[in-house]
Amino acid sequence: MKAIILQGSARTEGNTAKVSRVLQEKLNCDLVHLADKNIGHFDYDYKNEGDDFYPLIKNIAENYDLIIFASPVYWYTMSGYTKVFFDRISDLIRVHKDLGRELRGKSMAALSCGYGNTEIDSFFIPFEKSANYLGMNYIGNVHTWVQTDQLDQEVIQRIENFAQQLTNKFNA
Ligand SMILES: Cc1cc2nc3c(=O)[nH]c(=O)nc-3n(C[C@H](O)[C@H](O)[C@H](O)COP(=O)(O)O)c2cc1C
Repeated sequence: MKAIILQGSARTEGNTAKVSRVLQEKLNCDLVHLADKNIGHFDYDYKNEGDDFYPLIKNIAENYDLIIFASPVYWYTMSGYTKVFFDRISDLIRVHKDLGRELRGKSMAALSCGYGNTEIDSFFIPFEKSANYLGMNYIGNVHTWVQTDQLDQEVIQRIENFAQQLTNKFNA
C-alpha cells in the first residue's frame, strides 16, 4: 500500500500536522502540506493551469494507492485548503480526463482534527460522497483533537487503530 497524507491546515506545524505525523509514522507514508503549495481556486477557464495542482495530482495518480485527507475542523467543515484541492479535482473531469480515470479504483480516507473530542456529524460526508463520485473506495475516517502540547493518549490510540483499519481494509 502506497499512501500519501494531504495535510490541509493553514499552518504546517499546527495541530493537524501533529496528528498527521503520528499517522504518517504508523503507515510509513508520505505527507504533503497543502499550504506549502501554490494551488489556486477552481476557475472555469482553467486560468490556474500553471500552478502546483497538476504536478501534485499527477504524482498522486501515478504513484499512490491511498489518499488520506487530514483536515482541521474550520467552521464545522473541512479547511479551505482541503476544499480548494477538491474543487480543483474538477480540472480532471473537465480537462485532464485521463488523469481523472487514473483515480478510479484508488482508495480515500479522511482524518479531522478539532479542538474537542466531539465529532461533527456531517464532516466526513463530502469526502465519502466525493470518493464515490470519483469511483474511489472510501475506506474510513477518524476524528482527532489537540488541546495541549502533549497529544492525548486516546487520540494516539485512535490514530493507531485507524492506521490498522486502513491497512486491513486495503489488504482485504
Ligand atoms: C478558522 C477556524 C475555524 C474553526 N472552527 C472550528 C469549528 O467549527 N469547530 C471546532 O471544534 N473547532 C474549530 N476550530 C478549532 C480547530 O479545529 C482546532 O483548534 C484544530 O486543532 C486546529 O488545527 P490546526 O492547528 O491544524 O489549524 C477552528 C479554528 C479555526 C482557526
